[in-house]
Amino acid sequence: PPSPPTMAADLMEIDDSLYRYVYLFLSHTFLISFLCSRQRYVLGDSAMHQMAQSSVFLSGMGGLGVEIAKNIVLAGVKAVTLHDTKQCETWDLGCNFFIHKEDVFNQRRRVEVVCPRVAELNPYVHVDTSLCPLDDNTDLSFLRKYQCVILTEARLISLHLCDAFGICVRVFCDFGEEFEVSDPTGEEPKEIFIQNISQDNPGVVTCMDNQPHGLQTGQSVIFREVGGMEELNGSVRQATVLSPHSFSIGDTAHLHSYAHGGYFVLVKTPKTFRFETLEQQLYDPQLLIPDFSKPEVSLKNIHVAMLALETFQEQHSRLPNIGYFCIFVSLCFLASTFYLIIGPLQSLSPEEFLPRGDRYDALRACIGESMCIELQKLRVFMVGCGAIGCEMLKNFALLGVGLARSSGEVCITDPDLIEKSNLNRQFLFRPHHLQKPKSTTAAEATRNINPDMQVDAHLNKVCPATESIYNDSFYSGLNLVVTALDNVEARRYVDSRCVSNQRALLDSGTMGTKGHTEIIVPNLTESYNSHRDPPEEEIPFCTLKSFPSVIEHTIQWARDKFENAFVHKPSMYNAFWQTHSSAEVVLLRMQAGESLESSFQVIKLMSRQPSQWEQCIAIARLKFEKYFKRKALQLLHSFPLDTRLKDGSLFWQSPKRPPTPIEFDLQDPLTSIKLSRILSEVKIPEYRPLEKCIETDETAKKPDQVKLPLSSEEEREAILHLEQAISTDRVTPECLRMSPLQFEKDDDSNGHIDFITAASALRAKTYNIEPADRLKTKRIAGKIIPAIATATAAVAGLVALELIKVVGGYGFESFKNCFFNLAIPVFVLTEPAAVKKTPIRNNIYFSIWDCWTIFGHEDFTLSEFMNAVREKYGLEPTMVVHGVKMLYVPVMPGHSKRLKVT
Ligand SMILES: *[C@@H]1O[C@H](CO)[C@@H](O)[C@H](O)[C@H]1NC(C)=O
Ligand SMILES: *[C@@H]1O[C@H](CO)[C@@H](O)[C@H](O)[C@H]1NC(C)=O
Ligand SMILES: *[C@@H]1O[C@H](CO)[C@@H](O)[C@H](O)[C@H]1NC(C)=O
Ligand SMILES: *[C@@H]1O[C@H](CO)[C@@H](O)[C@H](O)[C@H]1NC(C)=O
Repeated sequence: PPSPPTMAADLMEIDDSLYRYVYLFLSHTFLISFLCSRQRYVLGDSAMHQMAQSSVFLSGMGGLGVEIAKNIVLAGVKAVTLHDTKQCETWDLGCNFFIHKEDVFNQRRRVEVVCPRVAELNPYVHVDTSLCPLDDNTDLSFLRKYQCVILTEARLISLHLCDAFGICVRVFCDFGEEFEVSDPTGEEPKEIFIQNISQDNPGVVTCMDNQPHGLQTGQSVIFREVGGMEELNGSVRQATVLSPHSFSIGDTAHLHSYAHGGYFVLVKTPKTFRFETLEQQLYDPQLLIPDFSKPEVSLKNIHVAMLALETFQEQHSRLPNIGYFCIFVSLCFLASTFYLIIGPLQSLSPEEFLPRGDRYDALRACIGESMCIELQKLRVFMVGCGAIGCEMLKNFALLGVGLARSSGEVCITDPDLIEKSNLNRQFLFRPHHLQKPKSTTAAEATRNINPDMQVDAHLNKVCPATESIYNDSFYSGLNLVVTALDNVEARRYVDSRCVSNQRALLDSGTMGTKGHTEIIVPNLTESYNSHRDPPEEEIPFCTLKSFPSVIEHTIQWARDKFENAFVHKPSMYNAFWQTHSSAEVVLLRMQAGESLESSFQVIKLMSRQPSQWEQCIAIARLKFEKYFKRKALQLLHSFPLDTRLKDGSLFWQSPKRPPTPIEFDLQDPLTSIKLSRILSEVKIPEYRPLEKCIETDETAKKPDQVKLPLSSEEEREAILHLEQAISTDRVTPECLRMSPLQFEKDDDSNGHIDFITAASALRAKTYNIEPADRLKTKRIAGKIIPAIATATAAVAGLVALELIKVVGGYGFESFKNCFFNLAIPVFVLTEPAAVKKTPIRNNIYFSIWDCWTIFGHEDFTLSEFMNAVREKYGLEPTMVVHGVKMLYVPVMPGHSKRLKVT
């Protein structure tokens, strides 16, 4: 390590240049830490399986150690040994959320206190403790039985090591000389359809205009279903990218010529990484640079400063006195990523940082007493109390945000109840909390971490309907708003409320290993609504209905069928019989020639209502015939395989797949003996092709359920069915009521996902698409966003840092938005976009944050209002509008009369 004098010189340099950095050694296997039902979608089955076999040794039970323990136990490793030798101190209360005041008072050991509380997070993980000293004399051979060793608060010995000093952190990973990463990107490869492949050396693959291939040179792809150049089917070729829509694949000159169809998929090739030893990295660290606007050298300076601190610790067996330590911390502030402007800190006396024997000592050493008090006085509104919410509340508790005695408060709201699938990510919740409200439960758990916190928990949704509760006076009592939401619509709404009430907003979100944070500050930055994310890609209606080409299409089709059959139709049925008192009255009115809305569909449903199991099976059999045979026959009737488009090209060419009707097979092992008997008795009407129009325009929307007038034949049919139903006494109140379902993906016993999986697989078979298993179907149909606890903890931590900056009143330059992907790993900080100011005329501007107020009185006329604007702003109003209504436009005849109106 560099000697202390060098370090001093380096620190001077930091001071001069005001560069601000944190350095992080991150690596792929930083990922080691997660699991939850949604985590399976992030890591895949084999990684989940490997993790469930792994034992981890984790040393150091400070704030960092307990955070890691939480994440890996939620992740579901096989066993964790928590190692620590220290006693609980008051200082720990500010960082370790599992240590309580009584533990300090009772002088308990940290590891003994923390162990049962960590173990409670996941009953499947074996958690035990170790108290043995770890030093140069320790025989480390016992570590062999662990797959992963994580050291925090340790002197620099080995392996996987991370530390936090104030706001500076270090992570170092050593996975040895050869570490194979099976999935170097973590992205699920998409099927890309082929437009053409040239017969050449090298041959060039072009893909459809609307779908760039997204490949990088050197990556490999596998080909499938290629017509003509069939030798390519199943073969893997390395791609050299030529353009976003084309790449070459080596010699194709001797292959058959390309005819039509086919697609390719990226093949994941494992990549081997070499990890240098700690000694090598200490001398010449490879740094992950999060902020490209700052030079790398300042990160190295922090590295040097941390090494110097360790040298001091080694020589004196303690950290420097707080005064010196705080200078160190201040210097690191200077150097930190977070760009905390040193102004306020410089003007503070060292006493600001001295310990006072309370739980905030550690925090105080970083940010000073005045700032701690500011945090305690805060009034914060947090919208949502799920995964991000739980992590945020923990951070609030540790930072002392919203303490009752300072008349601060954290108000949280979430209408949701705690579900089983929440438990492995939302770490404030335990099995005995199931079906309790998230917000009140989280509030209680937060007070458990910090009893002085004032948490007001609501069960409301934040939306226009609750504007009487979350009204302007509510917002004006707040310092800032934090979102912990999982959807764009709610974010947009909260953002609009923050803009009109001029309140700062801290937003964040995660998707799998990716996360982002965004800081929105009145008068300084743009707002969330200033940028629009690309809209979610919608599957064209005709693709869903007739031309599926990938499994997503068949899954969505099955999901729509579910909604229509089990939700929409029964609801319509109930609504009809609520409007119409009895079947007899309906019959009379229909006989009199009245056409009642949805009567035809309702009577059809009624007459087909099965009363026995056999009838249910018969209906299912007919549905099979309809969807998987007749629809296919009909399509092929309308568009025979040799159909050509106007330009002479084939109608059935990629991405369109011609369907193959499926013959129902009684011999299929799925049809049990009992069912066979019933099934063989079902009468299948003969198929007659219809001359009907099939939508092929991809831009066409799903037609509205237009109320077509009933044909007289349909009317007669409906009346007949109704008469029969009445005469056979099938119009009892029970018969006139159905129970609509509500789609619920998480209850495996309700059959919902099973229905969708089966329906989608059959349709996939019809169209020769590779079917998806139940898990994949569930993810796509349930629109499940993959999630892991570590990414959530990371965004919540980043938001907490921005919160400190907003509260400290630091300037625009200090704020950072962040995007990261822990899987690659990428970690990028950017400045938020500055607010756009539109000039009106010299020195008068307006932005989204402006709200100009004119105070009137009871008899205030439009004319007086306009005068007031002229006077106050020196502007000539050219028109007056209210919402979309024009109140006064000078050229409009009659508007001049309105000037006198109040
Ligand atoms: C593919 O490209 C070749 C050469 O440009 C062209 O002759 C051929 O018609 C194309 N084939 C198809 C199916 O578009
Ligand atoms: C390649 O795909 C085409 C089109 O689907 C198919 O007709 C052909 O049998 C396939 N050939 C091989 C070798 O798989
Ligand atoms: C705003 O809402 C609060 C309750 O949250 C209510 O007490 C207050 O009267 C409301 N203020 C106005 C102006 O509607
Ligand atoms: C934003 O600027 C306006 C006009 O300059 C000012 O009145 C308002 O107080 C500012 N808002 C905040 C939150 O600083």
